[in-house]
Amino acid sequence: RTGITRIPVVVHVVWNTAAQNISDAQITSQIDVLNRDFRRTNPDVSTTPAPFLPLAADVRVEFSLATTNPLGAPTNGIERRQTSVTSFSDNDAVKSAATGGMDAWPAANYLNIWVCQLGGGLLGYAQFPGGPDATDGVVILHSAFGTTGTAAAPFNLGRTATHEIGHWLNLNHIWGDDGTGCSGTDNVADTPNQAGSNTGVPTFPHVSCSNGPNGDMFMNYMDYVDDRAMVMFSTGQVARMQACLDGVRSAIGS
Ligand code: ARG
Ligand code: ZN
Ligand code: CA
Repeated sequence: RTGITRIPVVVHVVWNTAAQNISDAQITSQIDVLNRDFRRTNPDVSTTPAPFLPLAADVRVEFSLATTNPLGAPTNGIERRQTSVTSFSDNDAVKSAATGGMDAWPAANYLNIWVCQLGGGLLGYAQFPGGPDATDGVVILHSAFGTTGTAAAPFNLGRTATHEIGHWLNLNHIWGDDGTGCSGTDNVADTPNQAGSNTGVPTFPHVSCSNGPNGDMFMNYMDYVDDRAMVMFSTGQVARMQACLDGVRSAIGS
């Protein structure tokens, strides 16, 4: 596609305790983050180390809460339900009303985002393109969603959703998911081969897999660093996401 792709979003808030029933303001704060990160208008892109800054790219995707529901009626793009489930996992139970969650809206027309309590330290997870429609979308821990309300440091800058939507648009982890080895690949040419995931707030450069002098592109959204340390998608990653929008996800957006 050329130009900007605009994707309608539905947020399914599945809450057990009142605190998990996050505010509309927390939700819009997340949409705002996505629109900065995917257009490369996030102010902190300027913290990208100089050797990598020329690779920081505009994904040309924008997000907005849906204004029409699947039946054609007006909506604010936010659905809520209380559940008896105290904590969800990555088993997709949150994506079905029958298992305490909420059903997906049609994947061809909407990006589904479920916000809930997650166990086991999980911040979020995504379904890659090509999976079942009923479970398509991303799931985000309420306290790693948006920048206000229950959002808690160091995951309070909305980057979990940025990362998971990267997966939803076919991006792999930047270290290639091979543990700490150097044989895995993220199938992107302009991200340096990297051993394992980085966490926290690394110091530049972090060299692995003979990738000196500049080392790992740890400030990439597809690493595992803290929210304040991840600030960019690369040109090669944008090509991969756009190929997904031209291929498996060609129906979505306008
Ligand atoms: N799927 C990853 C996890 O649950 C998300 C990591 C997001 N990283 C972040 N800084 N927000 O651990
Ligand atoms: Zn991931
Ligand atoms: Ca690579």
